[in-house]
Amino acid sequence: MELGLRNHVAVVTGGASGIGRAIAAGFAAEGAQVAVWDLAGAAPAAAELGREFATPTRGVAVDVTQAGAVAQALAETQRNLGPVEHVVHAAAIGSGKFGFPFLNLAPADWPRVLEVNIMGMVQVAHAVAPGMIERRVGTMVFIASVAGQIGSQTDPPYSASKAANINYAQCLAKDLAPHGVRVNTVCPGMVQTPLNRDVWRAWHDQQPADQRQTYEAWAQAKIDNVIPLRKWQQPQDVADMVVFLSSARAAQVTGQTINVDGGFVMHW
Ligand SMILES: NC(=O)c1ccc[n+]([C@@H]2O[C@H](COP(=O)([O-])OP(=O)(O)OC[C@H]3O[C@@H](n4cnc5c(N)ncnc54)[C@H](O)[C@@H]3O)[C@@H](O)[C@H]2O)c1
Repeated sequence: MELGLRNHVAVVTGGASGIGRAIAAGFAAEGAQVAVWDLAGAAPAAAELGREFATPTRGVAVDVTQAGAVAQALAETQRNLGPVEHVVHAAAIGSGKFGFPFLNLAPADWPRVLEVNIMGMVQVAHAVAPGMIERRVGTMVFIASVAGQIGSQTDPPYSASKAANINYAQCLAKDLAPHGVRVNTVCPGMVQTPLNRDVWRAWHDQQPADQRQTYEAWAQAKIDNVIPLRKWQQPQDVADMVVFLSSARAAQVTGQTINVDGGFVMHW
């Protein structure tokens, strides 16, 4: 399917690792120009994509929680690649603790997670929306999680922040629709990335020592039990959905929450 993204400019926050990196590669594979925004590793990730897909790329070191840094990242991106048409916010963190029950966490474990996962999204949206409104074109995709839909107990601040991603995308989708800008949320299920391992490792370590399996065996058994398609999702699975939603092939899709989760959460 021709997605018509050649030469479009796409920003992917958290684009140096895991799902964000696969999304950046997905845009580059379509011939889009890609800016990788990340706390760490943005420049080498962007350079590698540029070499692999022979498309202009830019790596920008940025903490998405800092308004000034986000404004600078946008200016640098637009100076080098041109006006930004697509933004994917994939940067996120977990608390690093096992939050089941929630009393395992202190209230002090919450603010950094909310700052990155919610306020990072808000800073990025505030930075890019005015240009999209002015040009009357643009898409945003926020990477949320099934954890934001089911009250996942593993890491409550993470789950709450992912619910906020979904809700904020709907607010923006309504506000921006009259300006020709679409906003959607994609919710991955279980994807083997550093973030997933941090959250699940804390969970695995709760198993009583005499019943404890290796992390890999424990995690695979969990996937077999809860995912109807009985497979981990791959970063590429999420990237394919995000790139499609960002393209004109999804021109009638806005304010939607799309799960890429092997059927874990089914809704209509
Ligand atoms: N892995 C999963 O199973 C899973 C499931 C559901 C949702 N998700 C979501 O997918 C997205 C990507 O997660 P991942 O698993 O690929 O994680 P990851 O840890 O591999 O990548 C996250 C990236 O975000 C960057 N980042 C963190 N804080 C930042 C900040 N303040 N400013 C800029 N960059 C920052 C990190 O440096 C890293 O490169 C996240 O939004 C996550 O919530 C992941």
